[in-house]
Amino acid sequence: MMKECVFSGMRPTGRLHLGHLAGALSNWLKLQEEFECYYCIVDWHALMSEYMNSSAIKGYCKEILLDWLAVGLDPNKAVIFQQSHVCGHAELHLALSMIAPLGRLERNPIYKEQLENMADKDLQTYGFLGYPVLMAADILLYKATKVPVGEDQSIHLEIAKELARRFNSVFREVFPEPEMLLTPTPRVPGIDGRKMSKSYNNALFISEDLNDMWDKVRTMMTDPARMKRTDPGEPEKCPVWELHKVFTLDEDKRAELAHGCRTAGIGCIDCKKVLMDWIKVKLEPIQERRRYFETHGLEMMDILREGAKKASEVASKTMDEVKSAVGF
Ligand code: ADP
Ligand code: NA
Repeated sequence: MMKECVFSGMRPTGRLHLGHLAGALSNWLKLQEEFECYYCIVDWHALMSEYMNSSAIKGYCKEILLDWLAVGLDPNKAVIFQQSHVCGHAELHLALSMIAPLGRLERNPIYKEQLENMADKDLQTYGFLGYPVLMAADILLYKATKVPVGEDQSIHLEIAKELARRFNSVFREVFPEPEMLLTPTPRVPGIDGRKMSKSYNNALFISEDLNDMWDKVRTMMTDPARMKRTDPGEPEKCPVWELHKVFTLDEDKRAELAHGCRTAGIGCIDCKKVLMDWIKVKLEPIQERRRYFETHGLEMMDILREGAKKASEVASKTMDEVKSAVGF
């Protein structure tokens, strides 16, 4: 039986942090064991919002690839590649744009929200409106049926389904409808308690020096009611506790910490030290692999070249079908 196909991507617009690690990459690691996975560094997607600062994209592509390989994404188990290396993405985007209903794109709530939230950038462009069309092309090019995305992307995935359906009915049945793979992923908080994000300046990065990371963790926000060492706290109100739930794998230790917090038996620094130890357990081997790839640039280039080759084979077959369905 043919393996089901998974597609997912990340935009090279910043360094990857512990939110990406726990919220996406750890799931991708499991998926690569089971499915035919396409993991794509979506540089065209980055250009949609970063066109005024496009020289930074190349560096972030490299950082992302380093992080992916460091955490254990494996080119022997998944196709790892860069979007702009496979011309089918742009070509299918163009084809889908011909049948993409303008009103659907203009009314997309994510689009409206991003226009407001990223007011520092001029996103009133033709390309940015088409963000979900390009995302649909990314997925459909490989006939992916499973797409692991965060809840925030569910509208985009709905649009991808609609475009698949519309193409199939206007021309001919070519695309399966992709399904969202909503795996229960934690919302990883940053050092200020908000969702960890590159745009909030609150992130702990996968590649960050662990001493620098400890400086951030040490000063991290905790339960605001715990002003003094002798005040009892509530773990449920503390972002450090949220991180413990993700990284501190020893349940007994976690129970001990929660009890210590509620009874003021331990201080916040004691609690943070334990967290940092567990983050180290997770990150040390990752950072070691990262250092290996940092000094093996040619190997990284080979991985991308091989990935693009494998992806292109599938992509060009799909594009042949697309052109024939259209009648070219
Ligand atoms: P974009 O590339 O569109 O800017 P993000 O960098 O915000 O998207 O995140 C990419 C994916 O990583 C999200 O869809 C989500 O699954 C995961 N992710 C990012 N930040 C977090 C977080 N703080 N907690 C959990 N998951 C996260
Ligand atoms: Na695989």
